[in-house]
Amino acid sequence: MSSRVDQFALVGVMGWPVMHSRSPILHNFLFTQHGLNGAYIPLAVKPDHLEAALRALAPLGFSGCNITIPHKEHALALVDASESVARRIGAVSCITVRHDGSLLGSNNDAFGFIHNVLQQQPSWRGDAGPVAVIGAGGGARAIVYALATHGAREIRVINRTFERAETLARESGAPIEPIHWDDRHRALDGVAMLVNTTSQGMVGHPPLDLALDTLPTTALVCDIVYVPLETPLLAAARRRGNPTVDGLGMLLHQVRPAWKAWFGIDPEITPELRAAVEATL
Ligand SMILES: NC(=O)c1ccc[n+]([C@@H]2O[C@H](COP(=O)([O-])OP(=O)(O)OC[C@H]3O[C@@H](n4cnc5c(N)ncnc54)[C@H](OP(=O)(O)O)[C@@H]3O)[C@@H](O)[C@H]2O)c1
Repeated sequence: MSSRVDQFALVGVMGWPVMHSRSPILHNFLFTQHGLNGAYIPLAVKPDHLEAALRALAPLGFSGCNITIPHKEHALALVDASESVARRIGAVSCITVRHDGSLLGSNNDAFGFIHNVLQQQPSWRGDAGPVAVIGAGGGARAIVYALATHGAREIRVINRTFERAETLARESGAPIEPIHWDDRHRALDGVAMLVNTTSQGMVGHPPLDLALDTLPTTALVCDIVYVPLETPLLAAARRRGNPTVDGLGMLLHQVRPAWKAWFGIDPEITPELRAAVEATL
């Protein structure tokens, strides 16, 4: 066990709003499971206060924190150093306070996505065929990075605001074909995988407006939204026989690189951990 957890371990998540986050349940379950003396705290930080809040981490004795909506891109500009994956994605999802008090930014979204897919569909391959990604926001940037680094050769990015899909294609260096929103239904023709990265289908939002008629029934359908666990998209895909992967595991798997960086521990993602979070959804 790392000497970093010999004392009380303090970590958390900065977001605005943040009280909906399931991360405290997840991490506090792990503190108990590993017999560690520590706490994971939701930190409601207004956008204007992000820099001051980040600078307070070291003096308050935090080992680090996660970063969520809407701070991920701003945090990249505020940290003292960043890992190349965070720079490639253009956003920070996790910060580690280093021994000298400086802040290192990383991004574990892509790691979480890939390891969740592989846990639920072990035979998955990124180069199995074209992939359709719905959305071009922060989540999509991480998914596109994950797919490109796992061999995807054709990524159709379909976004309501076409210019944002074009920007992602230009900035990511991934093999992206930007697609207009009006063409979204037929853009599913022949894909091996479909990923929703928009907030559509999340509780409080309307379902994603997407007809699956042209989608091959062998295509793997993923949603990164995890409240509800089975989004209307995943329910429709399951009914027509497509294999599906829900978004909760993406959140769960992100704790592994975070705990490695904060405490030198690689926690196992167990069914008990998943059940503890699932019980709150
Ligand atoms: N499972 C996980 O670990 C994980 C990790 C990250 C994010 N997420 C989830 O992923 C979702 C998106 O997060 P984000 O950070 O990518 O948000 P974001 O940067 O704000 O992007 C939102 C995306 O949704 C699209 N969108 C919003 N309203 C829409 C509508 N009415 N019709 C069609 N498209 C619409 C946006 O299109 P425009 O560009 O046209 O606005 C944009 O592509 C959230 O629900 C978040 O909780 C989950």
